[in-house]
Amino acid sequence: MSYYKIADLEQYFKHYKKSVREPRKFWGKIAEENFIWYQAWDKVFEFDMGKGDIKWFLNGKLNITKNCIDRHLSKRGEKTAIIFEPNNPSEEPQHISYNELYTRVSKTANVLKSLGVKKGDRVCIYLPMIPELAVTMLACARIGAIHSVIFAGFSDAAIRSRVEDCGAKVIVTSDGGFRGEKTIKTKEVVDKAIEGLTSVEKVLVVKRTNEPVSFNNKIDVWFDELYEAAEASNIAEIMDSEEPLFILYTSGSTGKPKGMVHSTAGYMIQTAYTFQNVFDYKEGDIFWCTADLGWITGHSYILYGALLNGATTVIFEGIPTYPNPSRYWDIIDKYQVTHFYTAPTAIRSLMTNDYSYVASHNLTSLRVLGSVGEPINEEAWHWFNDFIGKKRCPIVDTWWQTETGSIMISPLACITPTKPTYATLPLPGIQTVLMDEKNNEILGNQVMGSLCVKFPWPSIARTIWGDHERFVKTYFSDFPGTYFTGDNALRDEVGYYRITGRADDVVIVSGHNLGTAPIEDAINHHPAVAESAVVGFPHDIKGNALYGFISLKKEGSTRDRDNLKKEINQLIADHYGPIGKLDKIQFVDDLPKTRSGKILRRVLRSIALNQLDNFGDTSTMINPEVVSSIIENRL
Ligand code: WT7
Repeated sequence: MSYYKIADLEQYFKHYKKSVREPRKFWGKIAEENFIWYQAWDKVFEFDMGKGDIKWFLNGKLNITKNCIDRHLSKRGEKTAIIFEPNNPSEEPQHISYNELYTRVSKTANVLKSLGVKKGDRVCIYLPMIPELAVTMLACARIGAIHSVIFAGFSDAAIRSRVEDCGAKVIVTSDGGFRGEKTIKTKEVVDKAIEGLTSVEKVLVVKRTNEPVSFNNKIDVWFDELYEAAEASNIAEIMDSEEPLFILYTSGSTGKPKGMVHSTAGYMIQTAYTFQNVFDYKEGDIFWCTADLGWITGHSYILYGALLNGATTVIFEGIPTYPNPSRYWDIIDKYQVTHFYTAPTAIRSLMTNDYSYVASHNLTSLRVLGSVGEPINEEAWHWFNDFIGKKRCPIVDTWWQTETGSIMISPLACITPTKPTYATLPLPGIQTVLMDEKNNEILGNQVMGSLCVKFPWPSIARTIWGDHERFVKTYFSDFPGTYFTGDNALRDEVGYYRITGRADDVVIVSGHNLGTAPIEDAINHHPAVAESAVVGFPHDIKGNALYGFISLKKEGSTRDRDNLKKEINQLIADHYGPIGKLDKIQFVDDLPKTRSGKILRRVLRSIALNQLDNFGDTSTMINPEVVSSIIENRL
C-alpha cells in the first residue's frame, strides 16, 4: 500500500486515520518510496513538544537538490522545469529544462564555493523574481549552505537586521530589478543595509537591469564573471535530515522578526506530498503560484514542492497590472497554465477591473485554483469560482504558515467538496485541535477556539535562529503539549475548519503577515512622537489596512499634522518597508492603558472597527477618560 497519492475521499479518511494511529509507518513509507537518500534514517521521529524539540528521519542522509533535479534527468531531462516570464511582455521568456537547471545550479554552487561558502554558512539572497533567485536557493542547498531569502521589497533596515541576526557572510543581489513601470534598486539598498557591517565578506551581484551601480572592489563581485568560468557539474553535499535547509524571517507580535529554521528531510517530504495531493498534480501540468519566492509560499510551492514532483513551474517577475490589468490572464493563456495559486488580496484587486480584461482570454487550460495567505471572503471566492474557474475548477483554500512549512488544512483538489471561506479538512498527518482558554481541547463539532496542532509533522520549523527559548515560548507554551498557531478557528457541523483571524498583534495586509510592533518601533523614531499603537481595520482590496493611533510629545504638538503624517509614513517605509504604511493616522492625547502600562490594543481595535458598544473587560484601564475623545475623533 502506497500513501503518496490520495485517490478519493474514502482514501483520504483512511490515510488520515493511518497517519494518526501509525505515524511512523505512514511517513516512513512515503519517505522511503518517493525520494532518494544516501542513507536511510534509523528512526522516523522523536519529539518533546514542551521543549520544542522535534526531529524527523533521524540520521538519514540526503541532498534535496538530488531529489529536485538529478533524479529527474534520465526521464525528464528535456522537460521544462521553470518558465520565466519577464516583467516586460516583449522580452523573451525563458524555458529552463531540468538539464539546464542542473547546469545552472551546479555552476552557481561552484561560484558560491569559490567565494568560500561552506556547509552550514548562511547566505542572504535579496533578488527580484528572476531565475537566478530560484537557482541561487538551490545552489545553496546543493552545497549545504543555509539560504535566507529577503523579499526584494524590504528596506535596508529590514535587510540589515536579518543579515546581522543570521550572521550571513555572503549576500546575493542584483544591479536592480523591473517591477511594472518601475525599476527597483536592489544593489543600492543592500549597500546601505551593510554599511559598516564587518561580518559581510562578499556581495555577489547578478546583472538584470544593466544600470550602473556603485561597486566596491573589496566586497562586490559580479556574478556573471564567476559564473562563466565555473564548472558545469557539482557533487551534492551529503546532508543530515535535520540539518537546516533555510531560514525565513516572519513577523512576530513583539520585537524583531523570527528567523524560522526549516530542516532538510522533513521539509522535503511534506512539501512534495502536499503539492502532489492538494493540487491533484499530474504529469504535464503547468503550475503557477503568483507569490514571491521571498515568502514561504514561494519556497514551498513555486520551488521545492513543484520540482520535487518533476513539475513545470512559472516564475513571473512583474505585477498583475502591467502593462495592463489582463497580465495574469495573458500568462495563463500563453503557457496553458493548469494551476493558478494566488492570494485573496490579489483576487479582490483583480475583481475591480473591467471584466473584458478576463473575457478576452482563453482560460480553458485551468484545472485547479488555489488561495492562500488570509481568509478568503465570500465575494472573492465566488468571483474566482464563477469568472476564472468558470465553475469547473475546484478552489483549494489552503491554510498554513511560514512555521508549518507546508499546507496543513485544505481541500484536496477534485476530492474534497469545497465550501466558500472554509479551508475544510486537515491533511493526513495534521492533528488539528481547538482549545479553550483553560487549555482544554474542545471536542465535537460546531465549536470555536484557538487553533492548535497536537502532534508534530515533518515540515514544522525546528527553531527560531539563535533563540530557541522564544520558539518554545511563542508556539509551545500557551497550550502545553500542542503547537499553537496564533489563529482562531471554528469547526462546522461536518468538521470543516474556517479560520476566523489572528489571536495576536499580527495584521494581514494584502496577504502579508505584519507585526504591528516593528511598525510602532519605526513610528516612534519620529522626534515628535511620544507613543503609538497600530491596529488593523477591514479594507476592500487589501483585506486589512493599518490604523495608527499616535500621541505626540509636547514639543511636537504644534507641528503641521499633514506633514507629520507624511514623515511618519516615510519613516515606516524606511525602517520597515512601504507595505507597513498607515492608511489612517489619528493623533490622540493619550493611549488607553492598563495599570501595568500595557496599551489596550483591544479597545483601539474596536474603535478602528467602529464597534463601540462593547470593549470587553476594561476594568484594568487606568485612563478611561481618553477613550471618549478618541472615539469622537475617529477616522
Ligand atoms: C498566517 C500565516 C503560508 C502562507 C502564506 C502566509 C493566515 C494563511 C490562510 C487561509 C485563512 C490564512 C493565518 C496564518 N493564513 N493562509 N487559507 N485562510 N488564513 O504565511 O506569513 O506565515 O502567515 O496567514 O493567519 O497564521 P505567513
